[in-house]
Amino acid sequence: MTKFVISGGTPLTGEVSIGGMKNAALAIIPATLLCKGVCRIENVPKINDVTIMLGMIEKLGAKVRLVDDCVVEIDPTGVTGDAVPPYDMMRSIRASYYLLGAMLGRFGTAKVALPGGCNIGVRAIDQHVKGFEALGANVEVKNGFVFADSPVGLSASHIYLDIASVGATINIILAAALTPGLTIIESAAKEPHIVDVANFLNSMGADIMGAGTDVIKIRGVETLAGGTYSIIPDQIEAGTYIAAIAATGGNALIKNIIPKHLECMTAKFSEMGVEFEEFDDAIRVSANGRFKKTNIKTLPYPGFPTDMQPQAVVLLCLSDGTSIVTESIFDNRFRYVTELSRMGANISVDGRVAVVEGVPKLTGAPIKALDLRAGAALVVAALAANGISEIEDIHHIERGYEMLVEKLRGLGANIARVSTPDAEELPKVL
Ligand code: EPU
Repeated sequence: MTKFVISGGTPLTGEVSIGGMKNAALAIIPATLLCKGVCRIENVPKINDVTIMLGMIEKLGAKVRLVDDCVVEIDPTGVTGDAVPPYDMMRSIRASYYLLGAMLGRFGTAKVALPGGCNIGVRAIDQHVKGFEALGANVEVKNGFVFADSPVGLSASHIYLDIASVGATINIILAAALTPGLTIIESAAKEPHIVDVANFLNSMGADIMGAGTDVIKIRGVETLAGGTYSIIPDQIEAGTYIAAIAATGGNALIKNIIPKHLECMTAKFSEMGVEFEEFDDAIRVSANGRFKKTNIKTLPYPGFPTDMQPQAVVLLCLSDGTSIVTESIFDNRFRYVTELSRMGANISVDGRVAVVEGVPKLTGAPIKALDLRAGAALVVAALAANGISEIEDIHHIERGYEMLVEKLRGLGANIARVSTPDAEELPKVL
């Protein structure tokens, strides 16, 4: 078993550099399947979900070459549309659903396992299916797979999403990029990585307008070339470091960010009493004393991101009063509360609403990461707590945070990644 052992209480100082955005990389890598030339993708985060996505496109026939730590070259010319990656590989991450849009758009047919990913509630794909069907595909969910097929080719359409779904918006863009005519997505999601995917495709020759607004227009082009593209910095990784620096009463510089993308978070953290100094591509974070009680409601971008809700709750645990946190995106994203309670947090949950009573201090405890952001929140809590915490099931965390131990150590944190024999391997004590 591998776990993080963290001795908390040290204020984080110094500087940390943010990597490429996980959720942009997980869409741009499958988007390369739409291209006819080699794509060189830069600022790719070194995380397990990206490794799995690269493995899946290799199984589909793409050639993947790691040029260096954060640069990958993808040659999709060997992809034919016949291959199917292993079922367990596809179901291990959420973003495998992007193979549907990419393969359908390129070859008119796709077979992909129903996606997995974090257990944070029901994660339907009906809006993806609605989009593909509007473009003329037949879609069927059978035996754990989604089959999409368009025997006569896709045709442009006007699609009204019922939910501003990030995944459905990107999937429809992927399917429509090579589809003749003008496809319009209304009520589209507006997250920065949707803009990044559109920018990537446009740089390869696509004609996509309006990404970042709720109406996106995609004029299908005949072909997409290869080229070089650099992924935007990860706003959620940056937000997690904001929470960690603030929770420890630290003062540190977060580099390689787009300040505009952080405003949806910094606005709320400022209400809590965290201080910021903004630069062109960096932000200084500092905090001391107790945080102010603050209500939070997660919303689609530019609202407060659901992916930062657990980390923000840690600061509210250390605040001077009672805060109400409403999760409006996912229906089961408070499971981590039981773990925070082991550290002395005082939180009650009713459905999608949590009531957080601030306490003066958290204390170290043995705890478990239950999903990616829940795990990140436990790391933040452990860094702030008095004493030692041991966090199990860190594979959830390593799906989405690159070089977490190295980066936190660079900020002065006392954290180690420790491997111990599994229970069954432990010598029996007679
Ligand atoms: N929804 C539907 N039907 C659909 C699609 C979504 O009902 O067809 C519902 C979902 O059940 C959910 C809400 O709409 O309640 C939002 O889902 P959305 O499609 O926007 O999210 P997603 O594509 O499943 C991506 C990120 C998540 C992030 C959300 C929201 C990836 C791979 N995942 O998920 O990232 O929380 O958008 O911003 O891009 C994470 O990084 O920790 C993470 C969970």
